[in-house]
Order: sequence, then structure tokens, then C-alpha cells
Amino acid sequence: MDQIIVRGGAPLSGAIPIAGAKNACLALMPATLLSEEPLTLTNAPRLSDIATMTELLASLGAEVSSLQDGKVLAMSSHDLNNHTAEYDIVRKMRASILVLGPMLARDGHAVVSLPGGCAIGARPVDLHLKALEALGAELDLREGYVHAKAPGGLKGAVVEFPFVSVGATENVLMAATLAKGTSVIKNAAREPEIVDLARCLRAMGAQIEGEGTSEITVQGVDRLHGATHPVVTDRIELGTYMLAPAITGGEVLLEGGRMDLVGAFAEKLDQAGISVTEEPGGLRVARKNGRVRAVDVVTEPFPGFPTDLQAQMMALLCTAEGKSVLEEKIFENRFMHAPELMRMGAAIDVHGGTATVTGVDRLKGAPVMATDLRASVSLILAGLAAEGETVVSRVYHLDRGYERVEEKLGACGAQIERVKAS
Ligand code: UD1
Repeated sequence: MDQIIVRGGAPLSGAIPIAGAKNACLALMPATLLSEEPLTLTNAPRLSDIATMTELLASLGAEVSSLQDGKVLAMSSHDLNNHTAEYDIVRKMRASILVLGPMLARDGHAVVSLPGGCAIGARPVDLHLKALEALGAELDLREGYVHAKAPGGLKGAVVEFPFVSVGATENVLMAATLAKGTSVIKNAAREPEIVDLARCLRAMGAQIEGEGTSEITVQGVDRLHGATHPVVTDRIELGTYMLAPAITGGEVLLEGGRMDLVGAFAEKLDQAGISVTEEPGGLRVARKNGRVRAVDVVTEPFPGFPTDLQAQMMALLCTAEGKSVLEEKIFENRFMHAPELMRMGAAIDVHGGTATVTGVDRLKGAPVMATDLRASVSLILAGLAAEGETVVSRVYHLDRGYERVEEKLGACGAQIERVKAS
């Protein structure tokens, strides 16, 4: 199993290209199931989660060709010959539940394994299921699978979420495009990935209004056609690499970065004393003088501070001047990186959903273990700032969401390499 070895201390300078968004791509790929005509995605990221979604779609009978070294995904769902998403694939990745709405909308039946828990919490899918029931789906939960039927087709309805869910909004948005009549999704997620999905569906002929606000209206159509769609920039990869020069000092241009994707996060960096400026080529991040200042962070749905950047922000705050309080409001168990950071000398106190970080002068390299995707990259960031060598194990988590980390950081002067563990 691979390990990543980081030797800390070097300030970074240079440019890092930001890939297409993993989370957008994982919602856009199942959209192919809505149409018999081809859907092509450009600017796709090259990640193991994308390979898992490819495997899932192929198991349903869709064709997915990876072109141009994986940056283009050409998909066709002309002949869907299986409507069961098996546990063996779904358990690897929760986003697999996103095939449920499209299959049901197009063919009136689908069977999808329930994903089960994951490292960062219980993460149920009840909101997905209730929303599809509101559109007229009949659901039966048996032996770990959701058996869904809509014999007469789905029907437009008002779906009001009790709280914001990105995935449930995506599932019902896709399903509603082929439902009879009008659907209104209230308390919808406003994430850029939702906006990107709506744009792609519109390019396929869907009638959608209001994406990016909390109320999305969908006028169902009889069929969707083919389209080509570029995947939006990955705001989480962007935010992660914005933290690299913030942690080490130096200056880096994040190519393709946009302020509107990371507004709340950039504001926190500003408060911490990091300069972020937007220019035609992307976002430029620099830390020139002195120690980072402590800041408090509360994770929220977009446009708030993203939970997917909480672990990485904690890595920065470990060496800030003063005490920072991080409150995790989206997932109940998302501080597993804290004990690993403490092995590197960080002073962190976790109580329930709140972590208090007291900045120390310097972190020290140590062997650490990745526990989930974002936690793993937070350990790499911490390693960049630490004295000596940090060895991160279980980096398969990292490969789910970051392409070529060692190359991207290495090109800016970081001392980082991937080795095969004996
Ligand atoms: C998506 C992202 C993930 C990110 C999260 C929050 C993808 C592939 N993943 O995950 O990286 O961390 O948004 O920004 O896009 N919930 C329920 N019932 C449901 C659905 C969700 O209780 O049916 C809860 C979850 O457990 C969580 C909260 O709602 O506490 C928000 O989750 P949600 O927005 O649905 O996250 P995902 O779509 O799974």
C-alpha cells in the first residue's frame, strides 16, 4: 500500500492547476441514465471515485469511455440492461445512491443497495427516499436494498427538505426532469455542484429554474437528449491547495480558481492574515509576514464554510497565534484527523462537534494515518509545515479525491514523494 512522505519547511512558489470537481462529476455521470443519447463530460478529474462510478454505470449497462487520459468521459445509456446497483459497488462510495432517481425516472423501476455508514458518520439516505416518494415512487426496503417502482411514471410535486442535503437535492432534481408536471424543490442545496448539474441537465433539454437558490422549479419533459458539458472547477481541491502556501509561506497561483466558489473560506484566510487575490488566470494566495492568526470556523451548507475544508483548515490553525474554535455542523464525527495532528505536536481539544485548537510554534513530523479523504490531505498539509519527516499511510483515501498530489505540490517546491510501503 502506498505511503506519502513529506519533508516540511520549504516555502512554496509556483502554480497549481485545479481539476474539475469530483463531487460535481459524481452527480453528472448518473445524469447519463436519463437519456438514450450520449452525454459527454469534459474537464473530468482522474480519481478512483470516478472509476467507481464508471464501474457502477457499466454494471447497469451504460457505456463509459475514458478519453484524453481520463479528462473526457463519453457516456451512453442506450441499452440499460440491469436496474440493480449492487452492494459491492455502492458500499465503496455513497454517491452511488445518485443512480436511483435517474433510473426510476427513465424506466419506472430501480433497485439500489443502501450505502451503509461511513467513517464520518451514519449518513442516512432518508431524505433521498422521501423526496422520491413525494414524486410518486413506491419504495420497499428489503435485505439492504431499496426496491423502487413508479409504474405510471413519476409525477411533479412540491418537495420540501427539513434541512439541506446536497445529494438528495441532486437525486430529486434529476428525477424531476422526466416527471409529469411541475416540481418545486424547497430548501434545496445551493452548492456550485448543484448549479453545474442543473446546467448540464438544461443542456440535455430539461426545464429548470432557480438553481443556486433555495428553491428550484423543474418543469418535467418527455425526454432528454444528448449533450457535452464541462465539469465545474473543484472548489475543495482549490481550497486545499490555497492552504498550502498559507501553511508554508510563499506564493502560489491556483489556476482556474474563482472567488465565487470559495467566498466564505477566502474570508477566513483573510482574517488569518493570508492574502487571496483574484486574477484572470485564477486565485493568487500569499503569506508573507509573520505567523497566521487564529480564527473561528463554523461549517455550513454553501455559501457557508464547507465541511470538506474543515480538516485542512485545522491543519493551518495548528500553528496559528492564539486559540481557534472549529464547530462541525454537517457531520457528527468529523474530527478523526485531530488525534493524528496531535501526534505531530498539535494542541487540540475535541468536545462533541467542537474542536479547540491552541496554536503551537511548530509541528513535528511523525508517522500518521489517513482516516478519510479530507483528513488525509490535512495530514499532508500539516507535514508541509512540520519539522522533519511525516509519513502518511492509507493514502488510498487520498486517491479518491486528489489527482497527482505529489506532482502538484512538488512542482511548487514541496518535498513530497509517494513510496510503495513494504
Ligand atoms: C456531499 C458531498 C460531501 C460533502 C457533503 C456536505 C458529494 C459526492 N459529496 O455529500 O463531500 O461533505 O455533501 O457538503 O457530493 N443526511 C440525512 N439524510 C439524507 C441525506 C443526508 O440525514 O438522506 C444528512 C447527512 O448525514 C449530513 C447532512 O445531511 O449530516 C448533509 O449531507 P449531504 O449534504 O446529503 O451530503 P452528501 O450529499 O452525502
